[in-house]
Amino acid sequence: IRENYSEVCMYIAKYIKERIRQFKPSIDRPFVLGLPTGSSPIGTYKALVELYKKGELSFEHVVTFNMDEYVGLPRDHPESYHSFMWKNLFMHVDIKPENVHILDGNAEDLDAECLRYEAEIARVGGIELFLGGIGPDGHIAFNEPGSSLTSRTRVKTLAYETIIANARFFDGDVAKVPKLALTVGVATVMDAREVCIIITGAHKSIALAKCIEDGVNHMWTVSAVQMHPKGLIVCDEDATLEL
Ligand code: GLP
Repeated sequence: IRENYSEVCMYIAKYIKERIRQFKPSIDRPFVLGLPTGSSPIGTYKALVELYKKGELSFEHVVTFNMDEYVGLPRDHPESYHSFMWKNLFMHVDIKPENVHILDGNAEDLDAECLRYEAEIARVGGIELFLGGIGPDGHIAFNEPGSSLTSRTRVKTLAYETIIANARFFDGDVAKVPKLALTVGVATVMDAREVCIIITGAHKSIALAKCIEDGVNHMWTVSAVQMHPKGLIVCDEDATLEL
């Protein structure tokens, strides 16, 4: 628990920096980082960029896999997760474009795209550290309430609550929010050797309580973190209101 959002972001950025620095990369074994979108990670990405600019961190040997992407939104749409990631992180650091992986929500065969993504994660040796955020309903990536805890990367219909929550990025217009997304599964996240979840704000306090004080539950998919041998939740004081 950290006092506020900026403390949370600094903590996680330093944590990721240390993980990357401690790791001994080789040609066939880079540091593989899973990444989220949403407003939660923005401060962490800013802090990572600052660390990079100070010369304390390099992404040269880092390979990334993003959690999810909307279906049918052009890649260069300002709200696509492609645009988000380049704008908030990748264009500011020394990551090699070929090391960036984001699901293609415009692929002709979406199921094949999901299988390809899982295979690509396996090919690079699995994900070392998966950073995630959650929705107020406790979803991780786009694993909406009711998603199987053994789910893998797939096409997902967004919950109405998620569509409403994300409408703020689409001129507040629910009709403009894509209704489908590609997302890694709960099991894809849990397969990572380490999982770190950002939970900030009073609006996430019920989800945090459900996640850690109730049992593991597919209606609050982030609760699967309880089963992870190396699961870390970094939250601010506001998010602890219901604990
Ligand atoms: C979307 C993303 C999730 C993210 C969630 C919360 O649903 N698919 O990965 O955790 O938004 O977003 P925010 O951090 O803006 O609350």
